[in-house]
Amino acid sequence: MDMLVIRGGQPLRGTVTVGGAKNAALPIMAATLAATGTTVLHGVPELVDVSTLSQVLRSLGMTVERRAGGALELTVTDDQPCFADYELVRRMRASVCVLGPMLGRRRRACVSLPGGCNIGHRPIDLHLKGLRALGAEIRIERGYVFARADVLRGADIYLGGSFGSTVTGTCNVMSAAVFAEGTTTISAAACEPEVVDLGNFLNAMGAKIEGLGTPLLKIEGVQELSAVEHEVIPDRIEAATLLVAGAITRGELEVANIRPEHLSAVIDSLRAAGATVELHGTRARVSMNTAPRPIDVTALPYPGIPTDVQAQLTALLAMADGISVVTDKVFPDRFMHLPELMRMGANVRREGACGIISGVARLSGACVMASDLRASAALLLAALAADGESVIRRIYHLDRGYDRLEQKLNLVGANIRRVTDAPENLPASLHLSTEEEAVPTVETSDVPPAPKFLSHPSASRQHELKDTARHG
Ligand code: EPZ
Repeated sequence: MDMLVIRGGQPLRGTVTVGGAKNAALPIMAATLAATGTTVLHGVPELVDVSTLSQVLRSLGMTVERRAGGALELTVTDDQPCFADYELVRRMRASVCVLGPMLGRRRRACVSLPGGCNIGHRPIDLHLKGLRALGAEIRIERGYVFARADVLRGADIYLGGSFGSTVTGTCNVMSAAVFAEGTTTISAAACEPEVVDLGNFLNAMGAKIEGLGTPLLKIEGVQELSAVEHEVIPDRIEAATLLVAGAITRGELEVANIRPEHLSAVIDSLRAAGATVELHGTRARVSMNTAPRPIDVTALPYPGIPTDVQAQLTALLAMADGISVVTDKVFPDRFMHLPELMRMGANVRREGACGIISGVARLSGACVMASDLRASAALLLAALAADGESVIRRIYHLDRGYDRLEQKLNLVGANIRRVTDAPENLPASLHLSTEEEAVPTVETSDVPPAPKFLSHPSASRQHELKDTARHG
């Protein structure tokens, strides 16, 4: 298992380029299950999640090859398999995105219920509600969703939940509805750019979807979808992470290959916190040379601040000049990064769906543990700004969603090493192996002489001594 060793304090300067969007690539890859012919996808990032989904698709009768130039080539060679195994699905909940295309094209699917997650409760009740509305018979047994539909019929579906719309739920229902007889409407549909990218991909294959990017979709069913070539949109979450990296290190960073319209809320927050963000076409230049101003951040469905960016903004606000409140209305429990930031000296606490952040002047390097994808990104950002060295363990979480992030950051001045997680690789500065090192050094002259007892002090005397020790 690997860990990252980071020496903080280096302002980042230069240009970094954003890769393709993980959360667009995954549902689009799943949708190729419904395509006739060979699909070619450009801009699919090289991530653990992409290789996991590739394994799932291969188990469902597809070939998935990475061409020399980086494009992904996907072809259905056998449309009979319908079982998505728990061993694969448990590694990545987005595997549930195969449910809609399988039902649409093969009329049956058996997909493991996605496993638990460190960011909170993640049911798929809305996915199943939408598929049932299209006529699918669905039952849940032994941890699997068994779905079949001899006929899919258009329906009027409301897909809103207690926390707003569902991104992959909209992807699943849309991918099935494109094959339903008649017209389907989906209200309270997710408007995220990744859902729009999937819808554009399906339309390029011959689907008839209107209203993409709005909460109301209208879909006319078709018989077949023909494979096409498609370029995945840039990853707005990686872009946001890189923008925060430029600000938190008080550097001057140009982030290339962005869609500025996908980042409005994030750029607005960075500017409110005192960063300078200049936009030039598909490039954004961020700079910051003072402590951030404290701001309140609320993660909401798109176009609000993405829940996938609230941990990164929390890391930035940990050094703000005052108190900030970060609220997550999408995943109210998504605060696993707070205890780890505290290990680096942040003064943060959780109050329900909020993180209360009292900014401190400096963070100090420490050994910390990643708990989920975006929490690990937040810890990396904090380590880039902290004094001294930090170690982040369990960075397999980071590798699920960022393509060679530490290499990109090192090219613009960061000092990050990926090493095997072993004691000998722990930096000396983080070795506190003996007692005297563990106890802060205090000049002996400062230590009052131990009282000389002729006999054991009485209880009242002990109390008095404790008071003295406590209050000096
Ligand atoms: C997608 O997850 C993203 N993943 C997540 O990114 C992202 O955080 C999330 O959308 C919100 O934007 C992918 O696209 C692969 P939801 P998804 O269904 O679709 C509740 C990352 O870091 N809900 O939009 O699973 C749910 O509990 C990942 O890249 C139901 O109640 O999220 C949550 O509170 C993490 N019933 C809210 O809706 C359902 O049937 C939003 O969830 C489905 C969801």
